[in-house]
Amino acid sequence: MGDGIVTDWTFEELVGDTGEFFSRHFGEQPLLRRGALDPARARDLVSVGRLDDLVTTETVPPAYLRIARAGQGVPGKAYTRVAAEPGTALTEAVVPEQVYELFRSGGTVTWNYLHHLLPSARRLVQAFARTFAAPAEAVAFLTPAGHDGYAPHHDPVDVFVVQTEGTKHWRVWEPAGAHRGEPATYPDGTLGEPALETTLHPGDVLYLPHGTPHAAAAGDQVSLHVSVTVTPRRWRDLLRETVEELTAGEEFAAVPHLDTPATGTGTAAQDGPAVAALAARLALLAERLTRLAPAAEAARLTETGRQRAGTPPPREFERLASLCALAPQDPLRRTRIPLAIGPSENGRTQLTVNGHTLAVPDAVATTLRLLEAGGSVQAGDLLHGAPAPRSVRAAESLTRLGLLEPATAAAGSTAR
Ligand SMILES: [Fe+2]
Repeated sequence: MGDGIVTDWTFEELVGDTGEFFSRHFGEQPLLRRGALDPARARDLVSVGRLDDLVTTETVPPAYLRIARAGQGVPGKAYTRVAAEPGTALTEAVVPEQVYELFRSGGTVTWNYLHHLLPSARRLVQAFARTFAAPAEAVAFLTPAGHDGYAPHHDPVDVFVVQTEGTKHWRVWEPAGAHRGEPATYPDGTLGEPALETTLHPGDVLYLPHGTPHAAAAGDQVSLHVSVTVTPRRWRDLLRETVEELTAGEEFAAVPHLDTPATGTGTAAQDGPAVAALAARLALLAERLTRLAPAAEAARLTETGRQRAGTPPPREFERLASLCALAPQDPLRRTRIPLAIGPSENGRTQLTVNGHTLAVPDAVATTLRLLEAGGSVQAGDLLHGAPAPRSVRAAESLTRLGLLEPATAAAGSTAR
């Protein structure tokens, strides 16, 4: 879409000292960081002009847009049209002129899932997903000069606000007590005095823990901010995953009928066979929980959370374009792309990768099996016992297939 260089973002850039953030603010209290970003850097994330491009190219599906006026959502049909050409499916499209008209008359325009639309927002969201090992999303809020955004409410997610153009006046109240996990709006005047009242300028960052009531209004210019939201992973979410992992085996696969009556007479229901079986499973689970190494489990939960939140960008075109000839001493390792190693026939072994099947010399399959457990191999040794140039050629084709990658710190992005 013609924007300049897309740079990476770090979480530190936004919040500063992460140790202090996690000990003093995370989930507990707001953090206001003035001038966290240079204003030009903030505009790199998204500018008003980029949003014009997104609207006028008409490629943004209507589901990505939301418009609110006077605190109320505007129905989508006010700014979309349905095209019904004979013989074709119905398509819904955003009508730029109607979006602009709603904005001129005081509507706040919201772009959901901005990270699906702009590479810059995608990079930022990835930095958050890595840090929190949880799903993150970016939303842009464009508010006309002098207008309110949304009425006071709280969100069930942690919110990181980056002001990118104009100014926005924020009122923030003490976090709600019991219902922080669900969204809520607050009728006017029910919240009392704000705990924090501040005006954000381009480059300022404001963190709001989930469940923190807030309201924002534009200053005397058009105001644009991006909110990155992170879904909290609570203890109960994490421990559910732990129990799921510990009960994944066959021992927990049978289907009991818990209401099985006890045999004999006068025996209480808790002595029935199903109850005894349940007691045995509970004991087995308890034993596994006790044996679990907390550090390893914490690492596993972090890794699964990151994977679920989306892996880093593959940038496959760029990777393929930058693959130059390998040298025999270049170290290579396995990527995360799944590989099935089949049987050997006439000195060649069948590999299945991404739905493609290919046959490689048995020596290559042997090396790949070893690499599945980690570690690296030099390109010239992949085809053990063969002349180095042949081995390097085999290494190059497996690298192009995405099965191997350079084993250096700055290596490709599929294994980390
Ligand atoms: Fe909000």
